[in-house]
Amino acid sequence: FAGPVIHSLPNTDLEILPLALLVINPAGVITTFIKSISRSDLTLALPIVDPETTTLHLLAPDQFLIPGFVDTHNHAPQWAQRGLGQGMQILDWLSALTFPNEAKFADPAYAKTIYARCVDGLLRQGITTASYYGSAHGAATRVLADLCLAKGQRAFVGKCNMNRNAPGYYCDASVEESLQVTEECIAHIRGIDPDGRLVKHVLTPRFAISCDDELLKGLGEIAKRNDDLPIQTHFNEAEQEMEATKGLFPGFENEVDLYESFGLLGRRSILAHCCYMSGYEMERIKQLGCGVAHCPVSNMTVGGGFMAAPVRAFMKAGIKVGLGTDSGGGFSSSILDAMRQAMIASYAREVASKGEDKGLSIAEVFYLATLGGAEVCCLEDKIGNFAVGKEFDAVLVGTRGEHEGVMTMVEEGDRLETVFEKFVMTGDDRNMVQVYVQGRLVKGS
Ligand code: GUN
Ligand code: FE
Repeated sequence: FAGPVIHSLPNTDLEILPLALLVINPAGVITTFIKSISRSDLTLALPIVDPETTTLHLLAPDQFLIPGFVDTHNHAPQWAQRGLGQGMQILDWLSALTFPNEAKFADPAYAKTIYARCVDGLLRQGITTASYYGSAHGAATRVLADLCLAKGQRAFVGKCNMNRNAPGYYCDASVEESLQVTEECIAHIRGIDPDGRLVKHVLTPRFAISCDDELLKGLGEIAKRNDDLPIQTHFNEAEQEMEATKGLFPGFENEVDLYESFGLLGRRSILAHCCYMSGYEMERIKQLGCGVAHCPVSNMTVGGGFMAAPVRAFMKAGIKVGLGTDSGGGFSSSILDAMRQAMIASYAREVASKGEDKGLSIAEVFYLATLGGAEVCCLEDKIGNFAVGKEFDAVLVGTRGEHEGVMTMVEEGDRLETVFEKFVMTGDDRNMVQVYVQGRLVKGS
């Protein structure tokens, strides 16, 4: 690929490269990354490229490459319920809408239909990596993993564990059954992708309200025996949820101590929401190395948090943070929407904190959606930005064409930085001309 490249550096700065060269090998690994190449060098080099062995991709003048987006928190079975139940409190929303909807995934054929739409839908929006909650069903969860692998999406796929405070028709029958189905899903995913190059199982206790002590303990033991597997749960999402958790676990003052006591917190843990965090909890998740899945759309619309997480404080403390669409609690499955909502929420926090917690910049929300998300998933050595040795997960953005001026309106003389800013704030999947995962084209032609 030769053309403009934009990505984040580990310090969250944007690196904007007007003419760079990226060489990808057949395994999808970046073998050469020349950050600045002159037009004349390019003209000299191009005739040497052997068309038999190499596909040359010269970007058009309106195009640029960015890293693929990472959705650190997504519920695949909620694909068809996105946008329903705005303004509801979390436990009411789960009972009224979510559990009846997720129960339908007892039917693997139904799961296949919805999950195919979901994976296609995310890929189309440039989400090259997703951390999915499945339903509680083993067969449906295996279907989701199969689809991610077949369609070429990098994914964490988790059988959702829940053995209490859920209706009889949608609840794990026992601790033993819940753990056994989890083990079966782990084995299945190891079978289809032995090195976990693309797909991994993620241990997924829904939240402490829906798991009893024995189940949390059993999951902690599985986590210990499988130290390559990520772990995810919902964490300090809303007051209703936090109070119910305290009532069920009177021995714990807070959720950090609770989950940690069961062996579920460490650098592999992805904690969704974290809207309400005490100083103690901030310090502990930093020490433990947990990552935060910041879900600003659902935080402000469903669940009862109605207060987005203190992202600036996490960043200041050196806690890993990425973005989650949390679709379907989040009405949008677009990371661009999550980026914009993260900015809006951060400006509200800036005012509420009397200027102490500065709002997020475009560069920062882009970082959260790419390299920050990769760090939360412990994938920063593989993806998140471009570097020799990393895998090529990328979106080719175009700003001209059929929809020109409807979304991103680029004008003659706009600098690349301005075009990028216009894309982030006004673009959508129609600007995503091609999407690649591990060098494989998964959208476009
Ligand atoms: N807490 C437990 N389950 C869920 C869920 O499905 N969505 C959200 N937003 N919070 C939860
Ligand atoms: Fe969620």
